[in-house]
Amino acid sequence: SRPVRIAPSLLAADFARLGEEARSVAAAGADWLHLDIMDGHFVPNISFGPVVVKALRPHLSIPFDVHLMIAPADSYLEAFAAAGADIISLHPEAGPHLHRSLQTIRALGRRAGVVLNPATPVSAVENVLDLCDLILVMSVNPGFGGQSFLTSQLGKIAALRRMIDAHVAAGGQPIDLEVDGGVTAETAPLCIDAGADVLIAGTAVFGKPDYAAAIRALRPKVLA
Ligand code: DX5
Ligand code: ZN
Repeated sequence: SRPVRIAPSLLAADFARLGEEARSVAAAGADWLHLDIMDGHFVPNISFGPVVVKALRPHLSIPFDVHLMIAPADSYLEAFAAAGADIISLHPEAGPHLHRSLQTIRALGRRAGVVLNPATPVSAVENVLDLCDLILVMSVNPGFGGQSFLTSQLGKIAALRRMIDAHVAAGGQPIDLEVDGGVTAETAPLCIDAGADVLIAGTAVFGKPDYAAAIRALRPKVLA
């Protein structure tokens, strides 16, 4: 079976101790750190910006997976690249020219991702697959942690799995398939069965006393 990576979302961490929290999940086995950027306009919540990403960068070495929930996003791509983002993902609704935004992220030397809201169809990404390093399926409406997983999105994950596999079989570059929102030890297997490669989890990691055990609980169960 395909390796699954876990990306804890810092949104559920103790914001008074961000550096320590980020280091703790990295030490606990997190593969990537997911950083949720919210502007109070594209989504009804405000989180943090490039200054905070930059301040965290020297504290850990795992990839920074930056999820932009801001509009317009284009004017901030350079700032997030400079702050130390390894992956920069944005929503098709966050600007008029998704293709150009992805080109910009690639030109900045970063991996580019497209995020699909629950109501956004798979077709929103199919004509820019050649510029995608990652596709992120939102399994909640973006803006807040701690919401319930929308099982209605499992079909979309499976459809994207087929689309990515066909793209790679035709000689295209690899594309990671990531799921964000309501991922818990109960819903993680559903995502993995549908074809996800990377699972983001906020409250299911930072809401638990033992981060290593929480991350382990999200990984595929190894049959004895
Ligand atoms: C929601 C964010 C998610 C959020 C997930 O807008 O994109 O990354 O932190 O939180 P949980 O895992 O608690 O649903
Ligand atoms: Zn996110």
